[in-house]
Amino acid sequence: MRIHQYEKAFLAAGGAVLILCLGALAWTTFVMGLHLPGVAGRIDPQAVRTTPPFDQPGVREVAPGRYEAVIIATAWRFEPSEIRVPAGAEITFVSTTTDVLHGFNIEGTRLNMMLIPGQISRNTYTFREPGEFLLICHEYCGLGHHTMVGKVVVEAALRTGATAQPAGSQAH
Ligand code: CUA
Repeated sequence: MRIHQYEKAFLAAGGAVLILCLGALAWTTFVMGLHLPGVAGRIDPQAVRTTPPFDQPGVREVAPGRYEAVIIATAWRFEPSEIRVPAGAEITFVSTTTDVLHGFNIEGTRLNMMLIPGQISRNTYTFREPGEFLLICHEYCGLGHHTMVGKVVVEAALRTGATAQPAGSQAH
């Protein structure tokens, strides 16, 4: 069977695009570490405030340079509504909702989670530069949806070797 040369060129171009896309997918997944936030656990929505780690919302250091930020979403606010984390540290956001579906999006980052009743959402991010970032609920959740905002304050990292202890965090 004879294939016209233009058709061959078209097939080759299609194949090249396919390989490029697969390469981009592999690169972002394995090299850049981008993943869809998966289900990180189940929780009884009625018992969120008494179930660890949500019984103590806020930021805590779990290892040198690694923090866990536990945030509860409820109509229509985030608890706590403001957190402070050091730049350059690995922050794992752990969140859930006590009532209806909420969103968890930190502007200007890839942190974008859906908070579903009964489900724990988890995602890790490192803020490279100090600054202030808006945390918004981007899933419609009722009358007060547009007021459901929080703030992430990224503070300059302390010099190497020192243990960063962001203000507002609790020692346990
Ligand atoms: Cu919570 Cu919109």
